[in-house]
Amino acid sequence: MPSCLLFFSIFLLLFPFSTQLQSSQAWSLLRIQRLLNYPPFLSNWNNYTDICYAEPNPYVTVVCYEESITQLQITGNGTSPPLPRNFSINSFFTTLTRLPNLKVLSLTSLGLWGSMPTKISRLSSLEILNMSSNFLYGIIPPEISDLKSLQTLILDHNMFTGSFPEWVSSLSLLAVVSLKNNTLDGPLPDSVKSLDSLRVLDLSLNSLSGPLPDLKGLTNLQVLNLEGNYFGPDFPSLGKKVVTLILRKNRFTGGLPSDLTSYYMLERLDISYNRFVGPFMPSLLSLPSMRYLDIAGNRLTGMLFQNMSCNYGLAYVDLSSNLLTGSLPACLTSNLKNRVVLYSANCLALRDKSQHPNSFCLNQAFAVGILPHKQKKESVHKTTVAISVVAAVAGAILLVGLLMVFFLRRANTRKAMKRPPRRLIVHASNGYPSKLLADARYISQTMKLGALGVPSYRSFSLEELEAATNNFESSSYMGEGLHGQMYRGRLNDGSLVAIRCLKLKEATVPRISTATLS
Ligand SMILES: *[C@@H]1O[C@H](CO)[C@@H](O)[C@H](O)[C@H]1NC(C)=O
Ligand SMILES: *[C@@H]1O[C@H](CO)[C@@H](O)[C@H](O)[C@H]1NC(C)=O
Ligand SMILES: *[C@@H]1O[C@H](CO)[C@@H](O)[C@H](O)[C@H]1NC(C)=O
Ligand SMILES: *[C@@H]1O[C@H](CO)[C@@H](O)[C@H](O)[C@H]1NC(C)=O
Ligand SMILES: *[C@@H]1O[C@H](CO)[C@@H](O)[C@H](O)[C@H]1NC(C)=O
Ligand SMILES: *[C@@H]1O[C@H](CO)[C@@H](O)[C@H](O)[C@H]1NC(C)=O
Repeated sequence: MPSCLLFFSIFLLLFPFSTQLQSSQAWSLLRIQRLLNYPPFLSNWNNYTDICYAEPNPYVTVVCYEESITQLQITGNGTSPPLPRNFSINSFFTTLTRLPNLKVLSLTSLGLWGSMPTKISRLSSLEILNMSSNFLYGIIPPEISDLKSLQTLILDHNMFTGSFPEWVSSLSLLAVVSLKNNTLDGPLPDSVKSLDSLRVLDLSLNSLSGPLPDLKGLTNLQVLNLEGNYFGPDFPSLGKKVVTLILRKNRFTGGLPSDLTSYYMLERLDISYNRFVGPFMPSLLSLPSMRYLDIAGNRLTGMLFQNMSCNYGLAYVDLSSNLLTGSLPACLTSNLKNRVVLYSANCLALRDKSQHPNSFCLNQAFAVGILPHKQKKESVHKTTVAISVVAAVAGAILLVGLLMVFFLRRANTRKAMKRPPRRLIVHASNGYPSKLLADARYISQTMKLGALGVPSYRSFSLEELEAATNNFESSSYMGEGLHGQMYRGRLNDGSLVAIRCLKLKEATVPRISTATLS
């Protein structure tokens, strides 16, 4: 890995960022400084600095390429009050449109206020737009749909109103949409279904409501955060690659879908404070990727046993305020450092005062049972996990972490950069769409190693892995390690990989892999 990174940095050095910035663009930056009321963190911008080569500064990043600014990031210090009354968002955006080659525009916590001008559509090269933590209000301008290269749209912590923008469906490259903590209302339109590239959808802390469209077709979706809205009643229908699913504080009711136990990439599941009823599947505790499970504040039933198993990486479990009976699984109580386990207000057989008597849970469960919800799901046995995981795998998708391959191939050929973006997004990392990562000259290192914490991977079908290993032929067998059998393989594009087959209970399933061999 270090050698790859080194190679990559050298690659960056070979392409110096800029010559002299066009004077009109330099002038625009000085005007931005004035419109922002000369904030202290821009104090080193003046007539004599070449802003493209200015001292690095945690508040400001300017990246230039061939005499123009391609990236402008200014971050205030978090608690900035609104700019004074004489601030004009219109003049501010007019000035921004004088930087027509901007690919990355991030203006956060600057106290910008007003309704976002439609002339934003003139920044037609924009790929990342982050205007979080300002005081922007009104509707999100539909003219954003003219920004055909847009891949990341982040408008968190503002005061936008209106419904979720239906027009997002015309932005086919969108990978990240985050509209957290605004006052959007109404339903999530069906048009989101066509966002094939979508990896992150964060709509938390709004007033959105109603049933969700079927999101199964969003096969790249990894993060869905709907916390603090009025969505419901049915559990969302999602592709199996979801890593983070947060439904906390909505109006979901009914039972949990039994195939939840086959979401083998799920790391974080928070369904707390809804009105879910019916059986809790203890096998969620042992999902191979699960780290954070919060089901608190529902009316989930079921009996837990001491001998149930948990995923080793499980760091946080909150089962509080449900109708669970039986005993707490030993794997939860075994004092693993830093693991948090909460379970008060159930009917577990414990010698402390945190639990209701068994009869409470039975009565409540009975009361829930006569509600007109389809409730009785088949009881969950350990084999269910194995079977459903096998089903999931047979159904299509396997996961291979290929960050190394990604770096090597990115650095290797300029040709790779010219691939169609859809394909590249499969290799994306860090929440930044990789079309951008490919344009390394435009984007700073921090940007590339950016912020959203989305795991880097691409998926392979079982067929692809079979092809790579000649159907798991014995000559590709490398041996058996602690975690299962290893096979060597060559992917379609020539990359050498190791493929590890994990043992999941009874079944042996080719799963998470791998590092490159070359
Ligand atoms: C806005 O008003 C402040 C005083 O409140 C003044 O210092 C500043 O120059 C004005 N800004 C603009 C852009 O007119
Ligand atoms: C910078 O340039 C502008 C116009 O070109 C001029 O009005 C201003 O006084 C200059 N500022 C400094 C500090 O030289
Ligand atoms: C943050 O901004 C406020 C007002 O704009 C200023 O008083 C304060 O010193 C700033 N804090 C830091 C850490 O820069
Ligand atoms: C939501 O945004 C407001 C400003 O619009 C901010 O004061 C508040 O802290 C944010 N809430 C959360 C939970 O981030
Ligand atoms: C776990 O314990 C329960 C009852 O204590 C028992 O019925 C069950 O067979 C056990 N399961 C395993 C896998 O040992
Ligand atoms: C958007 O800006 C906020 C505030 O500066 C930052 O915390 C967040 O990481 C940014 N998001 C991305 C993807 O750059």
